Amino acid sequence: MATVALLGTGIMGAAMARNLAKAGLEVRVWNRTEEKALPLRSDGAFVASDPAEAVSGADVVITMLTDGDAVGEAMAAAAPGLRAGQVWAQMSTVGVAAIERLDAFARSHGLVFVDAPVQGTRQPAEAGTLVVLAAGPADERLTPVFSAIGSKTLWVGEVGAATRLKLTTVGFGIALTSVLAEALALAEGLGVDPALFGQVITGGPMDSPYLQAKMKAVISGDYSPSFTVRNAEKDTRLIAEAAATAGIAVDLAEAAGERFRRAEAQGHGDDDMVAGYFAGFAASPAASA
Ligand SMILES: NC(=O)c1ccc[n+]([C@@H]2O[C@H](COP(=O)([O-])OP(=O)(O)OC[C@H]3O[C@@H](n4cnc5c(N)ncnc54)[C@H](OP(=O)(O)O)[C@@H]3O)[C@@H](O)[C@H]2O)c1
Repeated sequence: MATVALLGTGIMGAAMARNLAKAGLEVRVWNRTEEKALPLRSDGAFVASDPAEAVSGADVVITMLTDGDAVGEAMAAAAPGLRAGQVWAQMSTVGVAAIERLDAFARSHGLVFVDAPVQGTRQPAEAGTLVVLAAGPADERLTPVFSAIGSKTLWVGEVGAATRLKLTTVGFGIALTSVLAEALALAEGLGVDPALFGQVITGGPMDSPYLQAKMKAVISGDYSPSFTVRNAEKDTRLIAEAAATAGIAVDLAEAAGERFRRAEAQGHGDDDMVAGYFAGFAASPAASA
């Protein structure tokens, strides 16, 4: 059975590691903050003390860290344990510039590099129903790995193509969430019960399971993160950088980024991105949430 090393056991990585172990794969994990990785021992994962130990002997290496810099640092630290021919599935959202740098690193170490970000948040990650957006060589060693993590894999071309696709889908999700958060803050500010907004939308053509989940979070005041404000803000910058190079105006992504930065300044960086809601207010209306 294949051995998979997974670097980064945050919201997504921990859930993915559990599903890999459940599928019968040998799982070796590493996380900068080791305490977050330790619970995975009870799922059968080996918790390594550094990235090099984690990747040593693995057939497939997965990175699921915040951004390109974090991935680059972790893989540099993993270098003593890497060996030519290993598959590296880079599944974090790192953007167009970083994926090129990471590809170059992979080449210099003889790794088979696959650009493989995912669509889907905490719940699909836990259920093993992510959509894997994959680009690069479709190495067969990835088949059981992607099957354990996701319900669908889309192979979309050369390295970089999956990252570009990911920027479009995450931009869509960020914009949807931000529009909803803004509408609910407006309701609050206008003295309209946000639940009434829900009654108008529910069951109509603008309704969706996603909207229901995010609306429920704001109305109940439960901002436990599926995707943090901090990581969503990072993605708005990646989208803006890629769009600028392509000559495309992305006003909504930039506005969402501004809202996330205000929400972060109000102390909501580790909350779910729907906490962009708070950016609608000059001061955080925690009491009214
Ligand atoms: N959550 C989602 O809905 C979702 C969906 C699709 C894609 N993604 C993408 O997947 C990636 C992981 O997301 P997540 O939600 O799992 O994030 P998360 O819960 O915030 O976890 C981030 C991980 O990165 C690590 N990390 C951050 N900076 C680091 C550094 N400088 N060196 C080493 N490790 C570092 C963290 O380690 P510590 O524990 O030590 O802080 C943690 O393991 C991100 O690129 C995100 O954009 C997320």
